[in-house]
This record gives sequence, C-alpha cells and structure tokens, in this order.
Amino acid sequence: MRPDTPAPVRLEDYRPTDFAIDTVSLDIRLAPKATQVRARLAIRRRDTAAQGTPLVLDGDELDLVSLALDGRPLAADEYTAAPDRLEIRALPEGPFVLEIETRLDPDANTKLMGLYRSSGTYCTQCEAEGFRRITYFLDRPDCLSVYTTRIEARESDAPVLLGNGNPVEAGRIEGTDRHYAVWHDPHPKPAYLFAMVAGDLARVSDRFTTADGRDVALNIYVEHGNEGACDWAMDSLKRSMRWDEEVFGRIYDLEVFNIVAVSDFNMGAMENKGLNIFNDKYVLASPDTATDQDYAGIEAVIAHEYFHNWTGNRITCRDWFQLCLKEGLTVFRDQEFSSDMRSRPVKRIADVRLLKSHQFPEDAGPLAHPVRPRLYHEINNFYTATVYEKGAEVVRMLKALLGPEDFRAGMDLFFDRHDGEATTVEAFLACFQEASGRDLAQFSLWYEQAGTPTLTVDSKYEPEARRFTMTVRQSVPPTPKQSAKKPMTIPLKAALIGPDGTEMTGLSVAGAEMTGDTLHIRNPSHMIVFSDVPARPVPSLLREFSAPVHLKSDLSDADLLFLAARDTDPFNRWQALQSVALSALIKATQAAASQRPITVDPALVEAFGANIADDSLDPAFRALCLQLPGETDLAREIGKDVDPEAICQARRQVRATIADALAETMLATYTAMTSPGPFSPDAAASGRRALRNVLLEYLGHGTGGQDGTLAQAHFDAADNMTDRAAALGVLVHARLPGHEEALAAFADRHAGTPLALDKWFTIQATAPFGDALETVKRLTAHPGFSMGNPNRVRALIGAFATGNQSQFNQADGAGFDYLAEVVLGLDKTNPQVAARLASAFRSWRALEPERQARAEAALRHVAATGELSPDVRDIVDRCLQ
Ligand code: BES
Ligand code: ZN
Repeated sequence: MRPDTPAPVRLEDYRPTDFAIDTVSLDIRLAPKATQVRARLAIRRRDTAAQGTPLVLDGDELDLVSLALDGRPLAADEYTAAPDRLEIRALPEGPFVLEIETRLDPDANTKLMGLYRSSGTYCTQCEAEGFRRITYFLDRPDCLSVYTTRIEARESDAPVLLGNGNPVEAGRIEGTDRHYAVWHDPHPKPAYLFAMVAGDLARVSDRFTTADGRDVALNIYVEHGNEGACDWAMDSLKRSMRWDEEVFGRIYDLEVFNIVAVSDFNMGAMENKGLNIFNDKYVLASPDTATDQDYAGIEAVIAHEYFHNWTGNRITCRDWFQLCLKEGLTVFRDQEFSSDMRSRPVKRIADVRLLKSHQFPEDAGPLAHPVRPRLYHEINNFYTATVYEKGAEVVRMLKALLGPEDFRAGMDLFFDRHDGEATTVEAFLACFQEASGRDLAQFSLWYEQAGTPTLTVDSKYEPEARRFTMTVRQSVPPTPKQSAKKPMTIPLKAALIGPDGTEMTGLSVAGAEMTGDTLHIRNPSHMIVFSDVPARPVPSLLREFSAPVHLKSDLSDADLLFLAARDTDPFNRWQALQSVALSALIKATQAAASQRPITVDPALVEAFGANIADDSLDPAFRALCLQLPGETDLAREIGKDVDPEAICQARRQVRATIADALAETMLATYTAMTSPGPFSPDAAASGRRALRNVLLEYLGHGTGGQDGTLAQAHFDAADNMTDRAAALGVLVHARLPGHEEALAAFADRHAGTPLALDKWFTIQATAPFGDALETVKRLTAHPGFSMGNPNRVRALIGAFATGNQSQFNQADGAGFDYLAEVVLGLDKTNPQVAARLASAFRSWRALEPERQARAEAALRHVAATGELSPDVRDIVDRCLQ
C-alpha cells in the first residue's frame, strides 16, 4: 500500500453524530454552469455531544459562496471552509439555523455524482456520498431530515421540475423567463435519498389505488419521442405496488410516485424517495429494441427500486457497512417478485447462474469481502455481487431455516419496530430471533465470513439395514484478512429419490435437525442417517440451491443423469445436467490444452437430446438446461493455472459435437418453437424464443450450420430484438457467411437508438477471435460510441473485459494493457465507472503463470500512476495485495 493512502473507514469506529439536522430547506436556482444552492439547515446538538464540539460537515469539490448562522453572516475566523469540509466553531448551545450557499457547475460534472446534466436534463445522484457535492452536510445515512426543495429554472429549458415527496406549490417568476416548484417530503430521510430533476421531458401517467384506498399518481418521465416505450415499465410498477401489499403488507406512502429515465447514469437505477431515477436501459422497451432479457430486467429493476421504499427508505442503514440490510434484502424481494410473475424455477436458475458467475469468483479472489464488510477505503466499490447477491441468498436462507410463517413474522416485526430508523444487521436478525424463538448467533456468521463454503457429501446405502447414511462436511476457505473460519448454519434442502423417480417420504432422520425438507447443518461434520429406506436412493441435494455453497458430492455421472431426468425439483434437474456438462467440459479443456482430441460422452448427448424433445417441460426451462456452463464457470471450477484460450476452444468444440449429434432433433424443435402471430413479451412466448435461440446457437456452430443460411434466415425474419440479436450473435461468433452484411444491416436499422446499438457493440466485443481487441479499439471511434456514457463503455469495453475471456486474457497481455489504459483515461472523468472496469482484473491470480505475469504488470502500471482516484486506487491495491 502506498504511504499516501488515506485511512480506511472501520465499522468499529462508528459513533452517532454530535448534531441532528431536523429539517433541510433547499433553494436550487439552476443554470448550466453556475447553479446556486441555498441550504437552510435546522440543527441541534445532541444531548450526548459535549458543549463546544464544533460542527464538521462533509463536502466534495464544493465552492462556498456564503454562510450565515441564525441570520448572521459568519466572520472568517468563525469557520474553516475547504472544498471537502466545513468546520464551524462558536455555536450556540440551543438549536440554530445554518444557511449555506454554494455554487455548482452541473455541465462540468462528468463523475455523474451530485448534480449533473444528462442530455440537457438536470438530475442528481446522491448515493452513496453525492449530496456533499451539492451542499455541505452530515452526509451519512444515520442523519435523517425532513426536506423541502424549491427548484427554479428557465421555463423553456426545464418545463418539468421534480423533487422528493409531494408537490406543494409551483408558479412563474414574474418579469423573468423562469419558473419554480416546491416539493415537500414528510418522511425523514438520509441525504443519499435526496433527488431533483429539471428538464424538458415527456410524461406518461397512470394511477394506482392502494390497499387502504388512497389514490397515487404514477408518472414516468422520458426524453421526447420515447413516450411509446414506457408501457412495460408502468405495468411493472403497478404490479410491484400490488405485490408488495399482498406479499409483505407494505403500502405506498406518498401522493405521487415519479420515475425519470436518463441516458447518462453510473448504475442501473436509484430509489430516491418518491422520485426514482433510472438508467433509461431499465425503463425503455419496445419489441424492436429490447430483448426478452431486457423486459425481465426492467420488471426486476422497477420492482427493486420500488421495494426500497420500505426496505431502504422507511428503514434505512445506520452506516454504509450495513448496505446489505437494504440491498441484499431488496434483491431478495425483487427476486421473489419476479418468481411470482414468471416461472419460479426458471428465475431461480437465472439467479443462481448470476451468483455463480459473478459472486463466486469475487469471493474466491483478492476482492473477497464479507456480506457486511468491516472496513472500506471507498464505499462505491462495495456495491458488489457479494453485498447484493450473496446478501439476498442470506435472507433466502433465513427463510428456509425459519419457514415462511416465522420469516413473515420476523419481517413484520422489523417493519414495525424500525420504521423511521437507520438501523443495523443485528437489529434485523434480532427481529427474526424473537419471532421464531431460534438462536441466530451462528447464522449471523454469514454476514461476517467471506469466502464460499464447501459442502462435501458422501453417502452409502446398506440394503440389509435399509439405511442410507450421508456424511456432510463443511469448510470455509481463507480469504484476505480472514484466515480461520468458524462453521456456519447451512440450510441443506434434500430429498431421496427412489429408483422409480418418486420422492421417498415419511423417513426418519437422525444426525441433524430437519424442518420440512431442510436439514440444518451446523457442525463441521454431520453423519445423517435415514432409516427404513426400502431401496438405494439417489439423494437430491441442495434443492433450489438452498445455500450459496460449493457442493461436492460423490454422485456418479449416472446418478446425476438420473436426477437430470427424474428429479422432482426442477432446479436440481438443471443443476444435475450442468454438473455432468461441467465435468465433460473440464475434461475437454484438459484435452485441448494438451492437443488431444476432444470427445463427449454419448450419455450426456443423449440427456441433452431427451431434454430438447420433452414437450412436457417449459421451453424456457429446456433452454436453460441446454446452455452449457460458461467460460467463467469453467475457469472457476478449474481454479488455478487457468488457460482461457483452451477453455474457449474446448467449449466451442463440445458445443459443435453436441450440435452435430443432435442436429435432427434440434432442427425439429427449432421449427416447432417458431411463434405464430404478433410479438408478446410474456413468459410463455419469451420461453419459446429462448429455446429456439439456444438451438440456433448450437445449429449455427455445428457442421450443418456452416453455410450460414439458417442464421441469416433467422436474422432476416426477426420481428423483434430478441431474435435479431440472437441471430447476429451466432453469425458473428461463429463467423458465418453473411455476418458482415448482418452487422451492417443492424447498425443501419438501429443507428438512432443507442440502447439497441449497445447490443451491436457487445456482440462484436465478445467475438472469440484474435482480432477482437482491434475491433474494440476501432469501435471506440464509432460515432455511436462515447467514453462519457457509462452504458456505451460497459457495452463495448466492459463486455470485452468480462464477456470475452479468451481475448481479454490473450497470452501476450495486450488485452490487459488496453484495459489499463482505458481505466487510467476514464479515471480522470468518471472514477466510479473506471473502478468497475478495473475489477475485471480480479481473477488474475488464477491464470496460468505467463498470463498472470502480464496481468500483474498491467495492474502495477496502473498502481504506479500518480493522481489515481480513491476508487481505482482501492481496486488495484486490493487486487495486488
Ligand atoms: N441503491 C442502488 C443504486 C446505487 C448503487 C446507488 C450504487 C449508488 C451506488 C439501487 O437500489 C440498486 O441497487 N440498483 C441496482 C439494480 C438493482 C436491480 C440490483 C443497480 O443500479 O445496479
Ligand atoms: Zn438497491
């Protein structure tokens, strides 16, 4: 670590604030280059604070214009002001009013934190620490205040003026071309939930009647011309509101709910109270520009941000170490919502794939951290797959261990007890402990210990004794700064499947507590004995992926293929087939690395074939079963000395072999899945498209597809983005005849639609050929690309670094050097996005030695650069530790 690294923030150093800011009254006079912000803060010293303690407020690149205390301008010796800090001494003993005027330059704000402009619209992003870029404040989540916001702008520039809460007043300013609006939010909130928007936006409106009979105005604001692409988002919003009432008993609490879509946004979306601001990618959808996955993503993100109204806003975090309290819990809630809207097993499989491909590698590398970290240098870097996805898994496990009734009772108690507070993970767990009467001390280790636990299961059947014994062992690997780990409480959902494919029921179990179908694993090792077992069963383990662990069982491929065909838990059917496919791919990778021929076990091919043609199964589910484990799944499983090129080759060849062996069945089902009639985004229609497109991918990469006619016809006939992008992907990734024409046609058709063109960037950036890096570099000069827009950067460069393993990790290190250069360049304008790109290096230590050396050199080059942002500095330092 460099000597100039600032001190980290530690959980154990938490103390409450010395001052409370009860009300905030903001007067924001907008102008592109000189916006005036007047903040009127009603402040009181807490009883716990010693008299004479100065008031120290946070700032970030602020320009102070004036300062007054109880109406009196402060003299220069009464305070110290710096861009990042304001200290006021000589304060009255009683409550006082502080008036602060700052001047901002929204046009110059390329970090997209604080107040900035996106396509001319003024907007804000304050989480985590952006409010301090607007005015000096106690910018921390435990400082709750009631906000009133007055926004003023030129009416022609910004006819729409939006704030948090309810609208209270609006009007013209006589004799000028300006107008104003006043908003009041009655719910006390931390500064990170503050927002305002001003611009020339179109509005799409609807209404919602709450369960307690109140009428809520719903509005979605978008750039003019996009009004027609808001229906799906609005529909998703209304379904989210109803669902939260029905499933969690949570009712909306303001007169209006506004959503604004902006095109320049660092993240996906933000839950500001009553005024959610979205990356337009998660609002706009039409069949021609959005894929089925985009539709599902919009539904999930709209729901997620809406659900934050209770889990995050009404009850917020005491400090940023508690981030999972709102994010993990809210991800769990949005996952449950999507499961109820669509197929539960399909949603679960999609979530587990994401967890394994993003969170497991994070947990296995230098950036590993607990769901609740204890230390950070830069909080923006802790909005991670671990906090979000593993955080959601922890809540899911809680539900599995407690059962649905006690889980709901715990949630109800949490809402009841902590409404209006900024609280902690401990307080959350205490509610479940009280509601269920269970001791959750050991369970709470899930929040403390990083690393993915391994569950090892060995089993034996003794026919004479009619006894089935499973030995279950758990271990948690060492991670940065945590070498010794304690055993945790792990819910292991399990069933024994008899030879006829039915679940054995009514068995007696000893060796571990079992509630319903869930075994409670607590010890380093359990010997679990099932008695009166009439025949040798195959255990179906970790059903529904009941815990985020690596499962190592002694099941043979034959057992797994039996489960793939017969398990009554669809998730485990999928998992079983994936496990067999994964070991086949690992063998193929070893063969590729040593230039031996690659072969595929006919039993696996047969299992795939049976799946394709099984019309009793949901097409969406079949599509998932047919998808081979990804390159990162393989890399993770191989664990060390990874050669991404060999992985890529092996996977392509296995796919081609399966395609050739099953060409006939595939083609028949491909044809059968053609959807008649007009496009619909519903789950059934999208499932048929998913299956048809997976089959196209196989066929396009098989021998029979090499003339390109099938993929070209698919591309030409596509009446929606799902099919068009799928066909383009196959044409480009299999380098089929016609791929250049298709690329040109796609670019032509979508030239004016950035979100659609992003798919075109991504498909080219992820093509697994030696010229991919050159293509990426060339495309950065494309008129549709911009380094200033986070969506473009992610679609092209992010996709290359995370979605093109063989080419990003190419042996000569050119991919690493390129990413390093981009990170350094982007760090000057948008450190948050730069830091996220830099985390693509996180698995570098698992690479084979030559690539490892090149990756390290690139990382060291970044680390040796002076003037790095704290964001990028933190990522590269931890990667190198
Ligand atoms: N609160 C976050 C947005 C956020 C993230 C703000 C990081 C500041 C820093 C929001 O609720 C969120 O989690 N958004 C996700 C999407 C969600 C569906 C998981 C995002 O932006 O990626
Ligand atoms: Zn969130």
